[in-house]
Amino acid sequence: MHKLKSGREVELKMSDDGSHTLFVPELNEHYHSVYGARTESMHVFIESGLNQIRAKNIRILEIGFGTGLNVLLTALNRNDKTVEYHSIEKYPLNSELESLLQYSPNQDEQETILFREIHNSPWNNITEIAPGFTLLKWEADLLTANFISSYDLVYFDAFAPDIQPEMWSESVFKNIYNAMNEGGILTTYSAKGVVRRTLQKVGFTVERIPGPPHKREMLRCRM
Ligand SMILES: C[S@@+](CC[C@H](N)C(=O)[O-])C[C@H]1O[C@@H](n2cnc3c(N)ncnc32)[C@H](O)[C@@H]1O
Repeated sequence: MHKLKSGREVELKMSDDGSHTLFVPELNEHYHSVYGARTESMHVFIESGLNQIRAKNIRILEIGFGTGLNVLLTALNRNDKTVEYHSIEKYPLNSELESLLQYSPNQDEQETILFREIHNSPWNNITEIAPGFTLLKWEADLLTANFISSYDLVYFDAFAPDIQPEMWSESVFKNIYNAMNEGGILTTYSAKGVVRRTLQKVGFTVERIPGPPHKREMLRCRM
């Protein structure tokens, strides 16, 4: 068991594709799919989100920095895109736990260095992680956050709506919608009816698309 800075306890677990995830006993919830953390993130955020954006210069907002997996995969898969990546997190991990995380069974050296850069970068400061990739790890509560930037792509990766319904509320989605650029995309692993209807209500055009392994559908929303 590991204690986060906030006092929350988490367990390090291996998911089915050989990438780590975390389990929060207090919520009875994992950070990722137990059928494959990396596989899920690649499908939901990279293939269904990042790869759908044509612009070469983009700003991304992530809800829930967590382990930094989505940041790592974005940095590795952005091709020739210049990315400014903002990731909000209320409960940062501690450095001991960060050093234990493995996101592939045989992580290569470039990936290891990049992952270390992501975790070593300071909170609440825009930092260049690699040429053309800057990161803002923003320690804040989504429920009271004011977005001062505008975004082309949003990775909505909160804990599940049954576990943390307040993160999936109309007011949260409206704030995000208002902070997005024309043509922007939001993706999330949840395909729950109530989530889809709330997203539509705030103004998004919502598609149900095939989900990652063991999940029939997920949602992709456009402005
Ligand atoms: C599903 S996990 C995110 C996994 C993460 N994207 C990754 O790649 O590892 C949900 C995250 O939301 C964070 N969180 C929970 N409540 C929050 C809040 N009110 N504001 C910001 N982040 C919050 C959790 O601490 C957790 O890291």
